[in-house]
Amino acid sequence: MDEKIPTRGKALELLHRYNESESLRKHAYAVEGVMRYMARKRGEDEEKWGIVGLVHDLDYEKFPDQHCSKTGEILGEQGWPEEYIRGAVSHGWGICSDVMPQTPLEKALYAIDELTGLVATTALIRPSKSVLDVQVKSVKNKWKDKRFAAGVDRSIIEKGAQMLGVELDELIDDTIKGMQEVAEAIGLKGNSG
Ligand SMILES: [Fe+2]
Ligand SMILES: [Fe+2]
Repeated sequence: MDEKIPTRGKALELLHRYNESESLRKHAYAVEGVMRYMARKRGEDEEKWGIVGLVHDLDYEKFPDQHCSKTGEILGEQGWPEEYIRGAVSHGWGICSDVMPQTPLEKALYAIDELTGLVATTALIRPSKSVLDVQVKSVKNKWKDKRFAAGVDRSIIEKGAQMLGVELDELIDDTIKGMQEVAEAIGLKGNSG
């Protein structure tokens, strides 16, 4: 099958086709925002990083038991390049996939996927309910409180930061800034405006 470069429009169409849940869509936009921010900062291909972020959990709503592998299948049927498929599938390394993150794109996605959840929960407990005034230290304060955002596995984020070769603080800062850029789309602009 001929491989074409996927567009954001195509990625969005797939996301909407496979995910009706508003919270899953928002998670996809959050991850896209952070991936774009990190790609830009590193001089990498922002469009590619963002698109992989958008579709990384494509199968989660309809095929939770086949998470990761089903996404690989769907993107394969769509004729997406292997690089994009690997990027999406490797985010579940050790959980739902045995594809280990190797490229900077893959390592970044692996590192920030769960972290976006922690940043979102941190925003929601603020009076403003806004990601616009979340700071690194507010996220760090909740790091060891295992009951806070209990579903977020901190050890995966730490492993991801290590693989990427960045300090945890920098990774948290990038994640906050990337999410701030899409605050409106992810429903975390708060009640100020
Ligand atoms: Fe996932
Ligand atoms: Fe995810």
